[in-house]
Amino acid sequence: MKRCVMLISGRGSNMVSLLDALHPGECVTVISNRPEAGGLAIASARGIPVATVDHRGFVAREDFDAALAAEIDRHAPDLILLAGFMRILTAGFVEHFAGRMLNIHPSLLPAFPGVHTHRQALAAGVRLHGCSVHFVTPALDGGPIVAQAAVPVRVGDDEQSLSARVLVEEHQLYPRVARWFLDGRLSLAGGRVVLSGEVPVTGSLHAPQVD
Ligand code: GAR
Repeated sequence: MKRCVMLISGRGSNMVSLLDALHPGECVTVISNRPEAGGLAIASARGIPVATVDHRGFVAREDFDAALAAEIDRHAPDLILLAGFMRILTAGFVEHFAGRMLNIHPSLLPAFPGVHTHRQALAAGVRLHGCSVHFVTPALDGGPIVAQAAVPVRVGDDEQSLSARVLVEEHQLYPRVARWFLDGRLSLAGGRVVLSGEVPVTGSLHAPQVD
């Protein structure tokens, strides 16, 4: 069975949706950069070992990333899942985990990288918004996109209503993509996403065409 590590910074709702989709034992640890992250207690209550590497204990970003990489490597994971992990990672860290680190981002990339994505979408006046799961590369939120899910932006939406609508899709999309990877169907080859097998067609999910 493959081994995965999850990185979180906050409440951990994506982490929960991922844990629900994994086999027991498949998630070997949950690591946070914030000791107060609500998701840590949820993971612990489910019997999953947790750890904190507090970024506030490091002056240089490289030193934090080295400590985090060491903590991850102790578990020898096949896959690292960033689930609401709100730190910018150095190129060295990202390259160390190349091809085995996924992130979920709350926008239809390449639109609205960075933070406050729902605010950005409302300000831009887009009518479609959503979320993206991508392989992590040194370019911030710029790695190869595996799959996306779209939602409408409705008249009267604010950041809260829009983010709630997107979050419902995040909780569907990320476990599905993680499952593809853990089942050996998804990989990165020459910087391109390779996906085999059948991909279900749903109203909001958009994934690569499969031969
Ligand atoms: C989610 O919306 C996730 O997509 C986003 O943070 C939220 C975390 O919520 N991630 C990013 O913005 C990464 N740049 P959660 O802790 O409930 O999963």
